Amino acid sequence: MSDPLVLFMPSGKRGHFPVGTPVLEAARQLGVYVESVCGGRATCGRCQVSVQEGSFAKHKIVSSLDHISQRGPKEDRYDRVRGLPEGRRLSCSATILGDLVIDVPQDTVINAAVVRKRASDKVIERDPAIRLCYVEVEEPDMHKPLGDLDRLKAALVRDWGHAVGFDRLEVDFALIPQVQKILRAENWGVTAAIHHDNGEARIIALWPGLHNEAYGIACDIGSTTIAMHLVSLLSGRIVASSGTQNPQIRFGEDLMSRVSYVMMNPDGRHAMTAAVRQAIDSLIGEVCEEGKTARTDILDLVFVGNPVMHHLFLGVDPTELGGAPFALAVSGATHLQASQIDLSVNPGARVYMLPCIAGHVGADAAAATLSEGPYRQDEMMLLVDVGTNAEIVLGNRARTVACSSPTGPAFEGAEISGGQRAAPGAIERVRIDPVTLEPRYRVIGTELWSDEDGFAEASKLTGVTGICGSGIIEVVAEMFLAGIISEDGVIDGSLAERSPRIVSTGRTFAYRLKDGEPSITISQNDVRAIQLAKAALYAGVKLLMQKQGVETVDAIRFAGAFGSFIDPKYAMVLGLIPDCELDKVKAVGNAAGDGALMALLNRGHRREIEETVRRIEKIETALEPDFQKFFVDAMALPNKTDAFPRLSAHVTLPERKQPQEGEGGRRRRRSR
Ligand code: FES
Repeated sequence: MSDPLVLFMPSGKRGHFPVGTPVLEAARQLGVYVESVCGGRATCGRCQVSVQEGSFAKHKIVSSLDHISQRGPKEDRYDRVRGLPEGRRLSCSATILGDLVIDVPQDTVINAAVVRKRASDKVIERDPAIRLCYVEVEEPDMHKPLGDLDRLKAALVRDWGHAVGFDRLEVDFALIPQVQKILRAENWGVTAAIHHDNGEARIIALWPGLHNEAYGIACDIGSTTIAMHLVSLLSGRIVASSGTQNPQIRFGEDLMSRVSYVMMNPDGRHAMTAAVRQAIDSLIGEVCEEGKTARTDILDLVFVGNPVMHHLFLGVDPTELGGAPFALAVSGATHLQASQIDLSVNPGARVYMLPCIAGHVGADAAAATLSEGPYRQDEMMLLVDVGTNAEIVLGNRARTVACSSPTGPAFEGAEISGGQRAAPGAIERVRIDPVTLEPRYRVIGTELWSDEDGFAEASKLTGVTGICGSGIIEVVAEMFLAGIISEDGVIDGSLAERSPRIVSTGRTFAYRLKDGEPSITISQNDVRAIQLAKAALYAGVKLLMQKQGVETVDAIRFAGAFGSFIDPKYAMVLGLIPDCELDKVKAVGNAAGDGALMALLNRGHRREIEETVRRIEKIETALEPDFQKFFVDAMALPNKTDAFPRLSAHVTLPERKQPQEGEGGRRRRRSR
């Protein structure tokens, strides 16, 4: 009879093991990550698993509680002292008696709470760069004059070298003066934090006795917002999340104005570096308070950001990023110590920054690429992160290309007459009746439309203060569908006879969206600003499609806050993105933050994105002769040359204007 078959879920790894093998040992042999701090002494409780009972025909396994050893004294003791949840076993103590399906609890599920309507939440398999390893070190012996530190290293290699995968250890210099005291404090029992990444294993922190807490930080440094997760490296659980405004905003709203600030002010770089580091340090304080975690238990930190944020955080002058050839000081992944960048966490804590893709496509785009994984699949996926600079990635398993495009701040509500950031009171949805040209809208903060009973009451608290990015996209798209603007983006003044909503502003016309105080009008300049922004984005996308030799894309992912609120249909009506099945266009929220989390919890993901970034072909839009043509074509709504057949199945676009036709000769129809 063959040895029992054990299947670990959710990894699906399986293998045969002799009766009596501890479950933890079987997991290790198969490369299934199960945490363990105490080294199998049944004291840390980190190695918990559960047995799935039943018949698993697909795997030819009948798994039963009779196929695992009964709870012994060690597990009973742990249960008495710390409590073992119902159905959980300590895998270091439980042994295999027969066929088993073992569930390894995965606490890290990203996106569950972050994005509405997320199709599939992803589980991150854990394999962090930091491991806590408890050992009992031999006492000193006059006959074996080996130093305390050397005996500690030998014990760690003996007990943990095989499981964690190292055969020699380095040690941080700062620990050497402390080692003797720490070893003696708890009778030669000591927990070492070992950082094992980048080809080296190193002791970075030491505690007397069993130390059972290790945390990490995953942080996305956006030009507007800094978002952070505090994560347990031992369970993978996100224990607290928070965000704050990037204080660099006071030096310049967008990236280029911050680069100019550095160019004009000799101390500007230092001031901006200090500001962002202080903001991050206080955010760490905030998440620690919320998660009831000591700063000194933070041992690993992962940061992502666009190239300018990345450089300023590292203290690098970003001036070179202000002009061609947009040279990065460093493009590869960066490893450093948190103490080198003034962060108050454990003195030995490590920092990992993801690689930047190119001078305008940063570590945030790399992180979003890691999270969405166009390179892991066959379909041609377009990933766009729209900010003042759009970062665009297009690819599949065979090939991935990337570029950035200067969309400007219009999508964020800047440079638009009634524009504002997405906040309560901002108009976020708009519909225009194609016959009467009367609008109705919805504002952030209430689910009611402006023409519904109770809207005035519901919006009393916030008021109707302006229009945000998603609202601007919808209003311009609706104006196009209602025939108020032509495919060239010109507001048709002749409609003023038909509707008081069309008003003259001198040489051009405007559309009055909201009366009263404040009144909100969409001017010809507003429409132009949106056309310029969307044309820049589309031209960048088109250039990447040309490089890939494709006419269409299979899936579109919008990363970032902007993408979470725009309606794919309207984005397509405007010609912001290429034609695609509507249900294949998805908002993925803070994909950069998700990517940072993946890199924090699994060092394999670090190697994966480093390798991917090396392979991504970087396209510089400014050097591409066709960019200008694509841009000009994309100024039209939705586009002068490109068709949108899949969108047309849902929306009847206004017929294209024929050159010989007069202004009044167009028929306009649409459906909802
Ligand atoms: Fe620590 Fe099992 S490894 S309790």
